[in-house]
Amino acid sequence: MDAVEEIKQRLSIEDVIGQYVELKRAGRNFKGLSPFGNEKTASFMVSPEKQIWHDFSSGKGGNMFSFVMEMEGVDFKGALELLARKAGVELTQYQRRPGEGKVKQRLSEANELAAKFYQVHLSKNQDAIDYVFKKRKIDKNTALSFRLGYAPNNGAALTDFATKKGFSTDELKRAGLSTQRGRVGDMFRSRIMIPLMDPQGQAIGFTGRLLEDIPNAPKYLNTPQTPLYDKSRHVFGLHLAKESIRKSGYAVIVEGNMDVVASHQVGVNNVVATAGTAITEHHLKALSRFVQDVRLAFDQDVAGIAAAERAIPLASKAGVNLSIVTVTNAKDPDELIQKNPKAWQEVIDKPEYALDWLMRVYQERLDLAKAPDKRLYSDVMLTVVKSLQDPVEQEHFLEKLGKTLGVSKEALQSKLQTNKQATRLKQPAFKPAPPVHSAEVIKSQNHLLALALTVPNLRNHLDLLTVDMLPEAQGQQLFKFLKQHPEFSGGSKADPQLLEMLSDLQDYVKVLGVIFEELYQNLETSELREEATRLQVRLIEQYVKSQKQPLTAALQTVDDKQADAILKQVKALDALLKQSQSK
Ligand code: UTP
Ligand code: MN
Repeated sequence: MDAVEEIKQRLSIEDVIGQYVELKRAGRNFKGLSPFGNEKTASFMVSPEKQIWHDFSSGKGGNMFSFVMEMEGVDFKGALELLARKAGVELTQYQRRPGEGKVKQRLSEANELAAKFYQVHLSKNQDAIDYVFKKRKIDKNTALSFRLGYAPNNGAALTDFATKKGFSTDELKRAGLSTQRGRVGDMFRSRIMIPLMDPQGQAIGFTGRLLEDIPNAPKYLNTPQTPLYDKSRHVFGLHLAKESIRKSGYAVIVEGNMDVVASHQVGVNNVVATAGTAITEHHLKALSRFVQDVRLAFDQDVAGIAAAERAIPLASKAGVNLSIVTVTNAKDPDELIQKNPKAWQEVIDKPEYALDWLMRVYQERLDLAKAPDKRLYSDVMLTVVKSLQDPVEQEHFLEKLGKTLGVSKEALQSKLQTNKQATRLKQPAFKPAPPVHSAEVIKSQNHLLALALTVPNLRNHLDLLTVDMLPEAQGQQLFKFLKQHPEFSGGSKADPQLLEMLSDLQDYVKVLGVIFEELYQNLETSELREEATRLQVRLIEQYVKSQKQPLTAALQTVDDKQADAILKQVKALDALLKQSQSK
């Protein structure tokens, strides 16, 4: 038996999901409030019999692995590791190098031990207590949830303690807890300790702050790169922020760890930090697993502004919509929160689209009436335009830029063209942005397939559809299957060979079964037909809309011949839509 099956047998789906969602019995199933939104009536459902879940509000569904992927923002392997730990299943066959899992496990245990050690020492040191609770005004609950601590100043207190608990010097060095050169001692001494946690809340490293500034000593000292901690990927506070990020629909990134702590303390929980201003595409990708709307609240100093500027192309690559939150009348969010906690949420609620922000900041700093300033301005902005992946966004920005500079959009376009001829030639004239599928499209897909799968007579409602009109891989696979095997019927009469072909889609088929039972079981045939027609038209409408948008944008930048071809495509799309509506 493979690990996946073993985990499924050892864990029950209602227990796994029950740790995230409060579930109540409803007949054969369980129901709860959707963890993907802020609904008041339960539309989230778990079937213990079928071992699947489905959320009627967002259209998402699957097995326990896909649920953990959604909730924890991890990939399949991550979910597997997490559930394996829960189920007590060894994952030896999945390890890249034998023993790697064991090493990481030890380093993780060492960091957990250190976190507890530092917590105990915070409670014993009056200066540290004063600093955390009086000077920084952190309350007890916040200190506990962030697991704040204190590293004592006796050279090797933690190293000695951990050694007594059975950790070797080598392990402590590799965990980033003991100094790596010279006499072995503690990496962190006389600092307030803030654990860096992985998304599941395990300590994987630390950042330590001095209680008062000491000349030539770094204010913050961080764990170096270790097998567990990678500064270019780690998102501080994600463990405590992810639920709020998912529910609010956006994430805020600040510079400092203490800004995150202060923000959570006043109930603004969808806030995380990157290590200072060193934001990377990995950070943004990690957040993009939860939301597309990411707001940067970096300090308004030169470093902060430069970092926000650098983040624009990274965001475009990571596929997130970046905007900027500007904190005024305070050095950073922490200071603002101390002055006026409400003001923090207010500035977060007024983000400025990153490109608009960039234009504004440069306009304020430069004198566009002067030729050199004007040239610098247009160079900076065109470099940014070039880095944008989405032609619609490029278009929009060029238009604005043209207005500010008092030149035509065409002039800017040709400047852009000459700058990027080399790359242009290799690429197609335009690249449609990857579509972001709304819950509506996903729901239409699943509901239509639930009908077509359960009631073979309804399969003619798939006739006008093509694979690319369906938003998800599983839906596409099942669609192809049903087109190839229009006679297929499930249940006891099912052809075993055909069932075998569906084995990859087992859980998806079960989800569709639940959808059918919940929504359509008691409907008349004529009602089912109407519903299938409606869903089919929906999918075609959405598809036509998503196709036309980049085509229309591309019309601006292509020659006549290409334009003709594009117009033909647009006409064909319109015709398709008409045909579906007239049925
Ligand atoms: P700041 O100097 O803005 O500190 O550095 P801060 O977050 O406001 O900290 P407090 O409020 O004085 O405690 C921003 C971030 O840059 C990194 C840290 O991650 C810090 O949160 N940094 C700063 C370092 O890594 N080392 C340093 O010596 C200073
Ligand atoms: Mn600060």
